[in-house]
Amino acid sequence: MARVTAGVASSHIPAIGAALDLGKSDTDYWRPVFAGYDWSRDWIARERPDVIVLVYNDHANAFSMELIPTFAIGVAQRFAVCDEGYGPRPVPEVEGHPELAWHIAASTVLDEFDMTIVNELDVDHGLTVPLSLLFGQPASWPVKVIPLAVNVVQYPPPTSNRCFELGRALRRAIQSFPEDLSVQVWGTGGMSHQLQGPRAGLINEPWDTDFLNRLVADPDSLRAMPHIEYLREAGSEGIELVMWLIMRGALGGRVRELQRFYHVPASNTALGHVVLEPTEF
Ligand code: DHB
Ligand code: FE
Repeated sequence: MARVTAGVASSHIPAIGAALDLGKSDTDYWRPVFAGYDWSRDWIARERPDVIVLVYNDHANAFSMELIPTFAIGVAQRFAVCDEGYGPRPVPEVEGHPELAWHIAASTVLDEFDMTIVNELDVDHGLTVPLSLLFGQPASWPVKVIPLAVNVVQYPPPTSNRCFELGRALRRAIQSFPEDLSVQVWGTGGMSHQLQGPRAGLINEPWDTDFLNRLVADPDSLRAMPHIEYLREAGSEGIELVMWLIMRGALGGRVRELQRFYHVPASNTALGHVVLEPTEF
């Protein structure tokens, strides 16, 4: 059977992708950012997962105001790379796992989650920047990726509790797939960031640290967190953190924290990264 072998959370700051793509990762500003992922790069090279279910948000690149799915799963064989701002990154296209993706789609829908099924999906920095942070600059990505997009761009995003429950449903889905696969679940975005307005640049390290501690040891306590708290405490884009709850829900009860990295500044944003391992497989 397939197993959920680890969870990874990471910010997906687009300037990190640009720094890597433009050869600036060894400058004084960016070196500490990439160094914070050294352990994780070694770890994942040893782990060699077969598939990553990569929970991320599209930033009005693949979707738009015309179509706003709350949860959408990419079931294609491959996904082209797209982006705003700097344009599509010069990274390999992303190879999917249609059989597992369709299985997850069926399992979660029958589990009463209204998952949108996407046959053609271009993926933006929300998905590609974490891949680059963990895998560097390979000629092709060494893992299959199932994109799971969550609407956190247009109100109303899903609740914390709904996200945690979707994570639990993902775990059931993965564990009922008959092939012997090592599957990681990633959650991207966060941590505190507010990109515009009078509060632009807001960083709330105590709140971020508390979120990380609870994500690891007491995720149930985050299920009741209302949208307004993310916005007030972590800035308007801090709402991306609901996607970390999907990852955490997929890991089951207790987890081991293998790695944590928190860094300011990176762009206008507090960068957060954890690697978690379930205690039951
Ligand atoms: C930044 C962070 C994001 O998550 C994003 O989608 C865009 C920009 C930033 O920190 O600059
Ligand atoms: Fe984002």
